[in-house]
Amino acid sequence: MKIALGSDHGGLSLKDEIKGYLNSKNIEVYDYGTFTEDAVDYPDIAKPVCESVLAKQFDFGILVCGTGIGISIAANKIKGIRAACCSDGYTAKLTRSHNDANILCLGGRVIGPGLAFMIVDAFLGEQFEGGRHSLRIEKINRLEENGR
Ligand code: RB5
Repeated sequence: MKIALGSDHGGLSLKDEIKGYLNSKNIEVYDYGTFTEDAVDYPDIAKPVCESVLAKQFDFGILVCGTGIGISIAANKIKGIRAACCSDGYTAKLTRSHNDANILCLGGRVIGPGLAFMIVDAFLGEQFEGGRHSLRIEKINRLEENGR
């Protein structure tokens, strides 16, 4: 499995913790930054991470900002991205099995590393169920195409 990672300054510390955690599990990670505490705009980080996932260079992306919300809103503007901001394992699991989410977003100022690792495990460990959920994804895709 290959994961694309990215954060703004608000998510830097948690992003780095997650990178270490994934490395310790021998999961391949590419870090799109940011790499310093200097302020950066989260849409500028969401873009390359999401594009690399859409290009199938990676299986999933993990994005971190202060709350996880801004970066998830930015990611969800990109066609084909289904980004879920999660603060618990249940939603992380279900957003894979029901929503076929391809990007996990986390809040570096909201949760600590221990909970984040559980959420990452729940997200990466789950498969999309398909079936009735596929029809709903198709409807999401139609909203993306023509807004209805
Ligand atoms: C940056 O200060 C902060 O606004 C950002 O990390 C995020 O929380 C936005 O949703």
